Amino acid sequence: MIYMADTADIEALKQLYDFFPLEGVTTNPTILKNSGNKLSVAIDSILKIIGHGMIHVQVMSEEAEDIVREAKTYKSFFDVGDNFYAKIPVTPQGYKAMSILKDAGINVTATAIFTQQQALVSAKAGADFVAPYVSRLDNISSHGIEVVRDIVKNMNDFKLPTKVLAASFKTVDQIHRVSMCGSQSATIGPDLLMQLIKHPMTDISVKTFLEDGKDLYDISF
Ligand code: E4P
Repeated sequence: MIYMADTADIEALKQLYDFFPLEGVTTNPTILKNSGNKLSVAIDSILKIIGHGMIHVQVMSEEAEDIVREAKTYKSFFDVGDNFYAKIPVTPQGYKAMSILKDAGINVTATAIFTQQQALVSAKAGADFVAPYVSRLDNISSHGIEVVRDIVKNMNDFKLPTKVLAASFKTVDQIHRVSMCGSQSATIGPDLLMQLIKHPMTDISVKTFLEDGKDLYDISF
């Protein structure tokens, strides 16, 4: 599974990229707002940290031709070639823009997905990634994991190249479940990324190893 960080928190990203095998960063207008940075500054800072990782930048335009112009502008502004993904909400104008952008050779991530059909239509429109929102579905008494499972099944059954980018997580268990469903990728906030690698038994085991071995390891390195 591809792990991405769902954040524009530069300090948190620096810490994570130091050791976590992340393959990209996703952002949206709310994430930017929380970071306190404008788009150009935030993305520029992110790019300095992630090297050749993917960067998914959400568009704000609503009409297809504006979405296309906005995405093309960002792609040349940030100048990271195929690592750039235009993140487009799944509105009717959004689907139209996805097809145009794919024909123009620009990578697309369809976002704000709440149903299996929205994901399937996005895939048919050429989206490289589709992002179903797990917690937001759970919070309206729906079942985020089940929606992810259906989308993964559709992509596999119809042999579509589109990857599922599970998003909107509040718990480590949700991340575990989307992995088990075969979601090809997940975008996760910094706190949850840290939590998903922690286990108290690991800490206890490492502590014991250090105590037991401290007088026995006699080869200098
Ligand atoms: C990802 O593409 C979404 O922007 C994000 O995961 C939404 O998460 P939230 O529901 O926690 O805001």
